[in-house]
Amino acid sequence: MASSDLGRAYLVNVINVGLIGPISVGAVAYMGVMPAQGSSYTAADISDLLNYMARELDDGKSGENWRQFSESEVQQIIDRGTAEGGHDTARQRAALIAAFPELQ
Ligand code: HEM
Repeated sequence: MASSDLGRAYLVNVINVGLIGPISVGAVAYMGVMPAQGSSYTAADISDLLNYMARELDDGKSGENWRQFSESEVQQIIDRGTAEGGHDTARQRAALIAAFPELQ
């Protein structure tokens, strides 16, 4: 997910504003609510968190093209979402999967 700009924005937005609605991962469907975490974390925290997740939880699969998240990149994504009047993360996820079906 972190290898495209669309995916990077999605990951930041999910942490910042949460996610609600049905999603499927592989053959498994989830219908959950992820609460927004944005009020607990700064942009620097979110970049650290995403870098940690890619490094430790993705088993090194992030590969050579891996780009670290920086505080300023995260802040820009948050600001862009705020300017656009909110982040519809469920729609962003659908657009991301449509663009990169291998993420499904
Ligand atoms: C810093 C903390 C957290 C991070 C980094 C994080 C990260 C994520 C990410 C990246 C997704 C999207 C997965 C995908 O699109 O395939 C997600 C979904 C989800 N998260 Fe979190 N999460 C956090 C905290 C929480 C907490 C505290 C809860 C519950 C109390 C939670 C519940 C969920 C649920 C239920 C979904 C699926 C939502 C749905 O089915 O619509 N998360 N989370």
